[in-house]
Amino acid sequence: MAKTYIVGNWKMNLNVGESSIYLHKLLKRLKIARGVEVIIAPTTIALQPLSLQIDRKRLKLAAQNFYYQDFGAYTGETSISALKGIADYAIVGHSERRYIFKETDKDINKKVAAAIRNNITPILCIGETESEKIFGETKDVLRDQLIGGLSEVSLEDLKKVIIAYEPVWAISSTKGARLAAPDDIAASVNIIREQLKALYGKAAEGIPLLYGGSVNPSNAGAYLTIPGVNGLLIGGSSLIADHFIDIIDLAKRVVR
Ligand code: PGA
Repeated sequence: MAKTYIVGNWKMNLNVGESSIYLHKLLKRLKIARGVEVIIAPTTIALQPLSLQIDRKRLKLAAQNFYYQDFGAYTGETSISALKGIADYAIVGHSERRYIFKETDKDINKKVAAAIRNNITPILCIGETESEKIFGETKDVLRDQLIGGLSEVSLEDLKKVIIAYEPVWAISSTKGARLAAPDDIAASVNIIREQLKALYGKAAEGIPLLYGGSVNPSNAGAYLTIPGVNGLLIGGSSLIADHFIDIIDLAKRVVR
């Protein structure tokens, strides 16, 4: 049975105390769900205290960001090796990192490799902007971001990677964001799956592919049933515990 992943990306919201209260509320209602992997990405400073509070059978933690060197003179950075034993996953290449913090495919590629080296599963985010979509560049952008992000990932390590398709124009923080239609997502999912197959052959079939962009309890069911989609990466709605739980419940119902 393929797993369904429900990932909450809290971005730069909820301080340590608020995170802990949220988690308490979530754990009270969250049952072990066979086939559904629930993951939360709090701010870096909240990761360690939350790691003491979680029950890993029901919920795992993801880092939102890290630096790709394991240690050294990099003032202000947090290495992924420092997150070992705390986070099981790490988001890499989120569009906010690409466009606000100017992360390049080269940086992203090194981060993917660093996560794998440290036994933390990278969730590699890719997705086109509004103008790239308008100019018909979606296919090229997705291909370039996949090749860029995965160029150091061997066939053997491929099973340690998750891909998240997040069209930038559908992310709630993007100005004028609009909802992606399931057909649009399905078309991009096909492009991504084809490209992964071209890069890795049959081994690529098992790679989990998530969708992210303004997911909420009303549209999550439709997004989860798009063929080739294995879960959701949720920003805004994951900050509301009731909404996040509703989405997890939906995922339990559509588990394949
Ligand atoms: P959103 O964010 O659900 O608020 O659109 C998704 C993301 O940025 O990962």
